[in-house]
Amino acid sequence: MNDDAENLFDVIESGVGEGTLQRVVLSQPTRRSQTTTNRVEIRPIMLKEKQFYQWSGLRGSQAFHENHDPQAILTALRASIGISYRHIHLAVEGRQWSARFSRRGKCRLIQEKHASTPSNSSISTDHNRKRQYLIPEGQPVPFLVQTGIMTPTGQVRSRHFHKFRQINRYVEFIADVVDKLPHEDVIHIVDFGCGKSYLTFATHYYLTQIAQRRVAITGLDRRNDVVQTCHKIVESLGLVGIHFEQGDISTYSPSDHIHLVVSLHACNTATDDAISQAVRWGTDVILSVPCCQHELNAVVKAGQIPLLSRHGILQERFCALTTDAVRSALLEQVGYQTQVLEFVDMEHTAKNLLIRAVRRNSNSESPQLEQVTHELKQFCSVFQIPDLHLQRRLQEFELLQPPADIFPK
Ligand SMILES: C[S@@+](CC[C@H](N)C(=O)[O-])C[C@H]1O[C@@H](n2cnc3c(N)ncnc32)[C@H](O)[C@@H]1O
Repeated sequence: MNDDAENLFDVIESGVGEGTLQRVVLSQPTRRSQTTTNRVEIRPIMLKEKQFYQWSGLRGSQAFHENHDPQAILTALRASIGISYRHIHLAVEGRQWSARFSRRGKCRLIQEKHASTPSNSSISTDHNRKRQYLIPEGQPVPFLVQTGIMTPTGQVRSRHFHKFRQINRYVEFIADVVDKLPHEDVIHIVDFGCGKSYLTFATHYYLTQIAQRRVAITGLDRRNDVVQTCHKIVESLGLVGIHFEQGDISTYSPSDHIHLVVSLHACNTATDDAISQAVRWGTDVILSVPCCQHELNAVVKAGQIPLLSRHGILQERFCALTTDAVRSALLEQVGYQTQVLEFVDMEHTAKNLLIRAVRRNSNSESPQLEQVTHELKQFCSVFQIPDLHLQRRLQEFELLQPPADIFPK
């Protein structure tokens, strides 16, 4: 496969992975193709709130369409592009490409300049819009319009529907803990590793416009470019009670008591820095969606986890789950009632767990503390799990006893 063909598949795969693929048209059947369909069109649709892709065309004079899930559409495209069809037209997130395969199978990919996406495919194709979202469709929400997720009239653009759904799913978690946060006073929130901050703006919108609370939200990220973009959004929308800073999670120091710490998809041990900072400050609620938990996988020795270590992917998943299980047990040990919940459907991302920790009030004991501590000791002993970053940080802050008391050597 030449570079252009690889690039073409990269664009398609990331478009499907990120839900930004808008249209693919396959035409000019190859000589060896058995197809009677001269042209097929693939476009995203929503069925029962799940992302599918509709593959349609004409067989003779008979129209047909088939709905495929994201994995199946990738397989079908791989089996057709350059093999059954020589010409491919592609639209992903407002950009368009065309690719042509020579008779020898060599691909030439061209990104079309200044091409815009047809407007009739830009609105969400959801076939099942009955579900009531906390941030509903149909009413323009300034930050969603600004970030291109909604049209100015409040319709969700199809390529952003998964993001809209993720935002709403996340807002449900905020709604679930809103009673644990101040009712009258300003709610102080830090969003660690805020990135482009869709979810930070969503928190601000939900709390100020729907729950009618006063907030002071700080979005922190080490990347200056994302912080600058967020500044511009705040400025252009005239938002009050939200600001962004460039900095590192591990060294950030707030000037007020923080009621809610959020860390969503902060990479690897940045999640542990976020959690340990929050615990150190006595934060009332922590919402954390861990991401790329490489720490344990990098130190597990060959054969250490019987059976699973034979397969890289199984060991990797075991390590990720173990890291999150240890995190939630440690949070119990340092005074938080902790739950691990599903954040978004597994089909969209493997990074789909949310750790929710609510600080127990000082005189209420955890009914399961003894049991959790016992299970943690036993588990780590059986699989020889070493101290993880969160343990070390909590020990450094003297919030957790030294390792010898927790893990038998
Ligand atoms: C995958 S993005 C997630 C963005 C956003 N929270 C979301 O869920 O859409 C992770 C972000 O965390 C930031 N980040 C990672 N480690 C960090 C650290 N130690 N301090 C500050 N920001 C960090 C990265 O720069 C990046 O913008």
